Amino acid sequence: MQSYDLIIKNAQVVTSIETKYADIGIKDQKIIAIGNNLINSKETIDATGKYILPGGIDSHCHIEQKSASGLINSDTFESATKAAALGGNTSIIPFAAQYEGFTLTETLEDYHKLAKKGSIIDYAMHMIIAGPNNDLLNLELPEQIRLGHSSIKIFMTYDRLKIEDIDILNIFEKARDMEAFISVHAENHGMITWMVSKLLEKGYTHPKFHSVSHPVAGEVEAINRIIGISELMDQPVMIFHVSSEKGVEVIRNAQARGVKIFAETCVQYLTLTSDEMDKPGVEGGKWICSPPLRKTRDQNALWDAVKDNTLCLISSDHAPYSFDSNGKLFKGENPNFKEIPNGMPGLNWRLPILFDEIVNKRRKNLSINDFVRLTSTSPAKIYGLYPQKGDIEIGCDADLVIWDPEAITELSDDMVVDGSGYNPYSGRIIKGWPETVILRGYVIVFNNKVIADPGNGNFLPTKLSANVKPKGIIAHDLLKENNYGANLQS
Ligand code: URP
Ligand code: ZN
Ligand code: ZN
Repeated sequence: MQSYDLIIKNAQVVTSIETKYADIGIKDQKIIAIGNNLINSKETIDATGKYILPGGIDSHCHIEQKSASGLINSDTFESATKAAALGGNTSIIPFAAQYEGFTLTETLEDYHKLAKKGSIIDYAMHMIIAGPNNDLLNLELPEQIRLGHSSIKIFMTYDRLKIEDIDILNIFEKARDMEAFISVHAENHGMITWMVSKLLEKGYTHPKFHSVSHPVAGEVEAINRIIGISELMDQPVMIFHVSSEKGVEVIRNAQARGVKIFAETCVQYLTLTSDEMDKPGVEGGKWICSPPLRKTRDQNALWDAVKDNTLCLISSDHAPYSFDSNGKLFKGENPNFKEIPNGMPGLNWRLPILFDEIVNKRRKNLSINDFVRLTSTSPAKIYGLYPQKGDIEIGCDADLVIWDPEAITELSDDMVVDGSGYNPYSGRIIKGWPETVILRGYVIVFNNKVIADPGNGNFLPTKLSANVKPKGIIAHDLLKENNYGANLQS
């Protein structure tokens, strides 16, 4: 008779496509049976009245990363992944940020050391490229893609990170040749810089002016530009953290005419507005992130775009800074909005808040299956982790979360285990909580306590997913073998 390491009994098993009552049998870290009345296990968990979902995958989070402000995020891999696990995640995709003057290889080695030492859950790694020199593009990049880093992030803004269109084109060409995927922070740098200087010149320094300084037009322009480049090069992209109604419209229109692009938004753009920054003193700096929080109208449009799949996944863009002189206030007690580092914590809060919005409140009539798709299955399918991660099927890693749909929680600063020390959602009362988290068959969170050790997480090498491959249709005159059009007439 088949024996198991762990059986989870009597729950409703939820995937991105169905919900059914079943027992789940786990052996050697994998799901090996889904059926009724499973017996013969070393351990059994009775999950009557609960849901079992695939572990969350947060595909956009900044951990122990040297950021645009020059500061390191207020987190270690240990604190960040504790927060992630408590929030129902079993995998993350953080960043290794390469800057001008550093090699890609040494950058990746550094971040891998940190992640290997501290991470409690499994992780893949995006490569931020901010200094795309010839050696990096021609020698280092192919090697790192071969080693399992199939995802590149580029920035169109931030002084320390942005690259020019010519570099973007070079990276797109290499990525297409070498089978990598590209994600983009799309905002127009010139528009932001100009707005900031005009506002500061007139004395508008309060945190609330951060939102004004990143005009929607800047997001729209950069999204349009990156779509144009993506189309020209036949290289699909993921447009990160879409924040505005007008940004969504550009993406929806491009997708409708057949451009193969993907886009995400983040929990904060769906559930908070720029009003958060309008607090006395510099308190509002806690909610400064880029793109900025926008208006209720944008929030509604983002939910519509989640519903119609214009936006195919929801991440946290976790980028925490403590609210003190080591973080948000590193330029002093009374900084202007531009002196406050950008980003807010989210690894712990993304899933519980979205569960409340989607499963409990049924926003836009989205279902619990949509919740799984948007927060686990889609990220796995896009970033090359599927079917090992992101689903409950025989053969998948046994990454499972038992959700109590009835638990009521008031979010507070006291709950925070990440390095920010504050909860941007404090005071919010939500229904539904990820009470037990299982990574590869081992319980890592029980009764809201992490019971796994740092270093428990595995690196997940990725290959370009078939879902995000180029369409294979490229303008004749752009092909290298046609000498970029030089021999078009011959
Ligand atoms: O404000 C944010 N989101 N900071 C993190 C860096 C980024 O833009 O992704
Ligand atoms: Zn970004
Ligand atoms: Zn980010």
